[in-house]
Amino acid sequence: GDLEKGDFEHYMLKEIFEQPKTIQDTYRGRIKADQKEIVLGGLLDVFPKIVNANRIIIIGCGTSWHAALVAEYLIEEYARIPVEVEYASEFRYRKPIINPGDVVMAISQSGETADTLAALKMAKAQGALILGICNVVGSSIARETDAGVYTHAGTEIGVASTKAFTAQVTVLTLFAFKLAKERGKISQELYEQLIGEMLAIPDKVQTILLSHPNIKKVAEKYKDAINALYLGRGYLFPVALEGALKLKEISYMHAEGYAAGEMKHGPIALVDDNLPVVVVSAKDSYYEKVVSNIQEVKARKGNVIAVVTEDDNGLRNMANDLFEVPESHPAVAALLAVVPLQLFAYYIAVMRGCNVDQPRNLAKSVTVE
Ligand code: G6P
Repeated sequence: GDLEKGDFEHYMLKEIFEQPKTIQDTYRGRIKADQKEIVLGGLLDVFPKIVNANRIIIIGCGTSWHAALVAEYLIEEYARIPVEVEYASEFRYRKPIINPGDVVMAISQSGETADTLAALKMAKAQGALILGICNVVGSSIARETDAGVYTHAGTEIGVASTKAFTAQVTVLTLFAFKLAKERGKISQELYEQLIGEMLAIPDKVQTILLSHPNIKKVAEKYKDAINALYLGRGYLFPVALEGALKLKEISYMHAEGYAAGEMKHGPIALVDDNLPVVVVSAKDSYYEKVVSNIQEVKARKGNVIAVVTEDDNGLRNMANDLFEVPESHPAVAALLAVVPLQLFAYYIAVMRGCNVDQPRNLAKSVTVE
């Protein structure tokens, strides 16, 4: 049945552990029983327009912006429509060019973020088709949009977003796969394979959750660090950003997420034997590049904590500590890799005596500009 707060010390931990169920709740009814087709009822009427879009602009703030970045990579790789991702607070003020044929999509857990709502209204006034991916049913953004998809993650209470993020990525992944198929960019065979990969995610998330004692042990080791660096490439670059955001939000440890290939242009200056470097990787097309990035970190005595899959023998041997995740197709790997990082941030924050569910200076929903 549903998890109660009483079973957990904090809402955030409860919400992290709910993810096998919330991810299922998000795709339930959207993957047809024969697993050959994705149906997004809320977009049915506008889908022909989206299929012919010149460009998709995705806006959001905070964690929702990270989900948007995953979507950019997915939509461009599979559906081959140009995508731009932007912070709502920048987009709304910078006089962006919006053409007929552009689709503007807002991602928002609460559906109430002031900048995101205002950015959408502006895009609507300029003639774009506007879409929303929200968690809160009937929220302002959901009401403002022409069409949308709810994430169905259930109420999220912890200020640091966890299950809402994986629900957003789930919806956006289904959206990208469907768009790719309708545009004739992927075969029915690949479409069904990708659907199968999505259906396998909840059990794999469960496997990661079961490894929580190990993640806690690693957290104990690094809880007193001053800074942390998170690196990833491809689909796992936004996960590196999200992992760093989780840590700084709730533990107040300074953490930075970076594209691993960009490390040599700045962050590498920070690497010494006090710096934990969390490497988010999978055996994807970026793997060899990530391994060589990590050799650079090791050569400077950085402490490497690596998210690794079972078939990974390279990083495994270079890392000081490991977070094991099951193997998956790269297109769904973000949904797995983020989970140990949520738990890592959670345990560090608890060990540092922080108010995990209500971190200082932050709000669940930012309804001011
Ligand atoms: C606040 C919350 C974040 C959230 C962001 C965007 O900063 O603390 O967890 O990601 O707002 O919120 P939204 O409801 O628009 O997704």
